[in-house]
Amino acid sequence: MASKLWEKNVQVDHDVETYTVGRDREMDLYLARYDVLGSLAHITMLQTIDLLTADELAVLTAALREIYAEIEDGKFVIEDGIEDVHSQVELMLTRRLGDVGKKIHSGRSRNDQVLVDLRLFIRSEIEDVVKHLTVLFRTLQEQSERYKDVLMPGYTHLQVAMPSSFGLWFGAYAESLADDLVVLRAAYDVNNRNPLGSAAGYGSSFPLNRELTTSLLGFASVDYNVVYAQMGRGKTERIVAAAIANIAATLSKLAFDACMFNSQNFAFIKLPDEFTTGSSIMPHKKNPDVFELTRARCNRLEALPFQITMVTNNLPVGYFRDLQLTKEDFLPAFDEIKAIISMVNAMMSQVKVNEHILDDSRYDLMFSVEEVNRLAAAGMPFRDAYKKVGLDIEAGKFTPVKQVNHTHEGSIGNLCTDRIATLYEKTLDAFDFETYHQAFSKLLGR
Ligand code: ARG
Repeated sequence: MASKLWEKNVQVDHDVETYTVGRDREMDLYLARYDVLGSLAHITMLQTIDLLTADELAVLTAALREIYAEIEDGKFVIEDGIEDVHSQVELMLTRRLGDVGKKIHSGRSRNDQVLVDLRLFIRSEIEDVVKHLTVLFRTLQEQSERYKDVLMPGYTHLQVAMPSSFGLWFGAYAESLADDLVVLRAAYDVNNRNPLGSAAGYGSSFPLNRELTTSLLGFASVDYNVVYAQMGRGKTERIVAAAIANIAATLSKLAFDACMFNSQNFAFIKLPDEFTTGSSIMPHKKNPDVFELTRARCNRLEALPFQITMVTNNLPVGYFRDLQLTKEDFLPAFDEIKAIISMVNAMMSQVKVNEHILDDSRYDLMFSVEEVNRLAAAGMPFRDAYKKVGLDIEAGKFTPVKQVNHTHEGSIGNLCTDRIATLYEKTLDAFDFETYHQAFSKLLGR
């Protein structure tokens, strides 16, 4: 029984089939709804160039919408013996509608089908990531404002250095996310172009209307050159993965801080008991496992662009089956980063801050520069003031004034929370998700 779209009179070896299909049946489930949307746009366009009649378009559209609803209801499966989502959808159409189902593949290849599926999937996932990120950004900004007057030691080389504050600490991670959003936005733009019509990578002799499928799918533009459109496989994933890796890098640093500051030797922050985990042997333990796993999971995401690079590196122009493997690393990464962001948000909104850190004299010396600056402001040359305070410290005569008066932009006394929010919101507003929502609604007749 021939079960491949491409099988003619020789049946493929069973082991070879298992080997080449790999985890595609599982991975392609991520893409199923987008495969249907891509097909809806493709057949609408085929009818305008007379490759389908209006009646054929109508029955195919209805059947594809039905399949879409089945996917939403979790009823869609890629059957054993069926290679991938593209084959499964075509098979379902043919079973339900007969020969007309076999007409939808004119002017396309699974190569541009998977390309367009990925673009649509990535776009929706980025929208979701942005939503999660925005919640966390706002939480961090709120905490920054709430604790703006609570000082903590700032470290360089992990040595007590200068006064810092929880306002600065929380706010730093908020601002980091604002920059991560800029990069995510750039990745969104690279992704938001339509590769459909590039077919196997060299276009088609049918007079395809690529502008039409572009607007039907709500893309910002055609991915013009058909050879380049195919080159986008792997490249787009790598760029998007790099944007995800930036967010992961921000959160992994935050997670390390949180583990460290939560340890008894620092005791700067405290996680609520229900967010800590115990030890099987030491009855007193309240471990920050949640941040340790956040750190490790973020580090793993930071490897993602490299993994994609390694799989796709040194491929010449044109499609290769190597590209299929990128899906295994890439597709689940969105659920991963979203889960991480949600957890970090839960932690960061609940974390308790120690407001009495500075009662401990081990931090007294962080005020040394404040004293030097006070003397310098009163007229003593900076180098002399530096020396005087240094000698006082050596002689055990330094008594800190535990107050700071930092006023410049971005400092303890002037966090610029509003301006950082404006930066973030400006990038956020530039995402246009509405265009594709409307396009999808039209395709689905909703
Ligand atoms: N599963 C394939 C992939 O992800 C779909 C494209 C198959 N194309 C081909 N020429 N074998 O790359």
